[in-house]
Amino acid sequence: MGAQPRPGASAPGPSGASGTSAASATGLLAAIADVGVDRVRGGYSRHGFDRAELALREWFVAESRARGLDVEVDRNGNLWAWWGKPGPNALITGSHLDSVPGGGAFDGPLGVVSALAAVDLLRARGFVPSRPFAVVVFAEEEGGRFGVPCLGSRLLAGTIDADTARRLRDPEGTTLADAMRKAGLAPERLGRDEESLSRIGCFVELHVEQGRGLIDLGRPVGVASSILAHGRWRFQFTGEGNHAGATPITDRHDPMLPASQLVLAARRAAAAAVGSRATIGRIVPVPGGTNVIASTVDCWLDARASDDATTRSLVTEIEAAARDAAAAEGCRLEVTEESYGDTVIFDPALRDELAGLLDDAPALPTGAGHDAGVLASQVPTAMLFVRNPTGVSHAPAEHAEPDDCEAGVAALAKVLEHLAGSER
Ligand code: GLV
Ligand code: MN
Ligand code: MN
Repeated sequence: MGAQPRPGASAPGPSGASGTSAASATGLLAAIADVGVDRVRGGYSRHGFDRAELALREWFVAESRARGLDVEVDRNGNLWAWWGKPGPNALITGSHLDSVPGGGAFDGPLGVVSALAAVDLLRARGFVPSRPFAVVVFAEEEGGRFGVPCLGSRLLAGTIDADTARRLRDPEGTTLADAMRKAGLAPERLGRDEESLSRIGCFVELHVEQGRGLIDLGRPVGVASSILAHGRWRFQFTGEGNHAGATPITDRHDPMLPASQLVLAARRAAAAAVGSRATIGRIVPVPGGTNVIASTVDCWLDARASDDATTRSLVTEIEAAARDAAAAEGCRLEVTEESYGDTVIFDPALRDELAGLLDDAPALPTGAGHDAGVLASQVPTAMLFVRNPTGVSHAPAEHAEPDDCEAGVAALAKVLEHLAGSER
């Protein structure tokens, strides 16, 4: 493995590619392997504008400058490293540097390091971009800190209201506005960014595959065909906090009961709707004492399905079960939709063109969300996937072999070279 977590979180210096020799994706990942290691959960915890993510952003700026790229931060905290002059009809590639809590080394960073390595490779071949070209790093893609996934790209595209975004809070109560201010950014400027958007001619995001499509097909690289409709709903159950020993069972209003019914209802409903997914991955009982009946329980539902109607009906069914369970225990329930994105079908002509260029690379659907999915409704967008031998993602076992990472860089460079000379 090229990027095993080691303790520590300070910003590493540039890896030494310095624009003269081509860096490998694995070498670049190794340079950031110490940043944001989570000693409690395992893997990495790197969240939007926290210490680890800021260290990675600093590292990205240094790597970009070492290559002679000019780095801009847009109104929404996304980083753009320009090879040549920024301008319209730009070819953009990149991904994100943040992770889920206890995530793997590849989801996000592989797309960023592959973009930098592809720049090195293209340069070594004497390629000079004939159109504006940039490597982008989107902010808070996982929503691991402020709850809304693809926050940087949603803000860029204007698909989340700026005031709503500014008020988002992390588990410690810090707002996005305060976290951005602390990072030297200006949250009053958040919002749809016509200037940055109108410059994007085409976006290509390379990503580690989050599934077993490529391993089963025996191919190192694939292209994305679609993304499931998906969203996050917050279920807040309120009961009565009390003593675990002194309160008779018949006198309780324990919100953990309907919360546990919610977990079961999510699995039941998703199992009954083929291809659907429903997950409760985050439950916070308050106050959270062993000998305390919780007064509230905060649960997050992640639900996904092939289309809008199926996703909506899945959530309706789960909510109905949760409401019945809350009523039976004498608890209240408040449900809030925190984020939503409809099904994405990537531009079929672009997908087929890139698949053809990459020796008929297989086209794969995915259940995972991406900034490319947000941008797909605004600009021609494509994704490349790199084989993941475990199929596991959002967990420390997420992996891509060094040879496959380099195959991904070669594929990305080929795609960028091709698109640089095309109308897209
Ligand atoms: C992000 O990777 C998601 O699918 O939630
Ligand atoms: Mn992810
Ligand atoms: Mn990702």
